[in-house]
Amino acid sequence: MRVEVVQRRGLRKAPGRACLVLPMFENGAAPDGSLLDPVARRALRALAEQGVLTGKAREVYYLPTPGGRHDGVLVAGLGKGRGVDAEVLRRTAGSACAILRQQRVEHVVVDVSGQRQLPVEAFVEGLILGGYEFDAYKKPDEKDAPKSRVLAVTVVVGASGDVPRVRRRCEYAAVVALSANAARNLANTPANDMTPTALAAFAIGVAKEPHCACEVLDEEDMRRLGMNALLGVARGSDEPPRLIVLRYTPPGATRTVAIVGKGVTFDTGGVSLKPPEAMHEMKYDMCGAAAALCTMLAVAQLRPRLNVVCVVPAVENKVGPAAQTPGDIVTASNGVTIEVHNTDAEGRLILADALAYTVKRFRPKAVVDVATLTGACVIALGHYAAGVLSNSDALHAALESAASAAGERIWRLPLWDDYRELTKGTHADLCNIGPPKEAGTIVGGAFLEKFVGKTPWAHLDIAGTAWGVKNISYLDPKHATGYGVRLLTRWVMDCQG
Ligand code: BES
Ligand code: ZN
Ligand code: ZN
Repeated sequence: MRVEVVQRRGLRKAPGRACLVLPMFENGAAPDGSLLDPVARRALRALAEQGVLTGKAREVYYLPTPGGRHDGVLVAGLGKGRGVDAEVLRRTAGSACAILRQQRVEHVVVDVSGQRQLPVEAFVEGLILGGYEFDAYKKPDEKDAPKSRVLAVTVVVGASGDVPRVRRRCEYAAVVALSANAARNLANTPANDMTPTALAAFAIGVAKEPHCACEVLDEEDMRRLGMNALLGVARGSDEPPRLIVLRYTPPGATRTVAIVGKGVTFDTGGVSLKPPEAMHEMKYDMCGAAAALCTMLAVAQLRPRLNVVCVVPAVENKVGPAAQTPGDIVTASNGVTIEVHNTDAEGRLILADALAYTVKRFRPKAVVDVATLTGACVIALGHYAAGVLSNSDALHAALESAASAAGERIWRLPLWDDYRELTKGTHADLCNIGPPKEAGTIVGGAFLEKFVGKTPWAHLDIAGTAWGVKNISYLDPKHATGYGVRLLTRWVMDCQG
């Protein structure tokens, strides 16, 4: 997707079907149609007077303008007031996507020359996220809904002084949204293709960017490192596990931050088998890995001045003759012993070794793990916020600020000693489950905390936000959301100080 920012006089007619987008506030004047011919301008004014154009948030109206400079004009409602929330713009753009698709629009021109304060980059983000579709496994069918074809977005600003600032923000938004869409591709790809090896291949691809490098540890490497918690999970599957280490190390950087993503490419539950109803959704159990790897994809293009390391333990949790058995005790790479009472609580087992490895090898200033860890998180927060557990108020505050800037919500849960007690094992140091139906998300976090030592750490439970999100126009409930890429990229960029 090409994104450009110009002043009116720099506006050129691009080839293909074009649509002019005009923002409109609720109870405000008709949109500024000075880029339209007089007939279309009059039509818009009349529609506003007749109350057809309301400017209500997320309401969009399309008027064909054949023969004009653009093939149509879309009035985008932004709601009341001037201080428009970025999320309103994102969602309005999401609503616009259906019409743009139906109208086969290839070039979107957004005229914000009258609204200097508008965070127009959020509109660009909404267009890219809302235009996402996953049809790699469908054969072309003329009868199906038309494919999105928006190839270029031009943002028209008023003052020449605004061009560089708006361009920088729009380019950032495009990189992040395209990276989130890449995460959605990884996640939507079914487990028969998106294996641990395939995830590693993706990481190797990202490592082609400047200052990036990727190492992929195999079973033998992991055995040497004593990663028995991770290897125990992998035993039920024929797919070999991988530990993916993707690094971005720009010249001159001294500080390092780390992101660790849960990469269970399919979670059957293992011997503690999941019920069949929604098991197919467990192809999404690598959404943490997708978020972590695609944050690196964004970071590699945005080039912050700090080292960023991404570690992904990638395994399939299946049932085979050698599968891990309830009651088994494994010793993680940091020497901690774990009683495996439920093979379905596998995320914390693989993350245990990945986190211990990350803090020991890279000594990061902070480590954030991102994981579809507990069904309990979906019960607690639904699909509209990720749960956070952290041993650091400062790190949580940094994530909170990144979350609100990026438009991906987080909500902290407490991590008190009483909860830490619930992670203790009977025959080993830890047990991989706590008491049934008690603070499942917190206990998962309390378990992970045992593997980060004193490193400032935060755990994002994205079980609810990673897929199945309803009523957010730029996402779609049937597919993965790419949750985490926008938040973590913002967090990394803010870590530059
Ligand atoms: N991948 C699941 C968590 C999950 C479930 C995410 C549903 C999204 C939707 C995880 O591996 C798991 O099965 N966790 C168990 C933990 C329990 C056994 C302590 C769970 O949530 O039931
Ligand atoms: Zn599980
Ligand atoms: Zn899982």
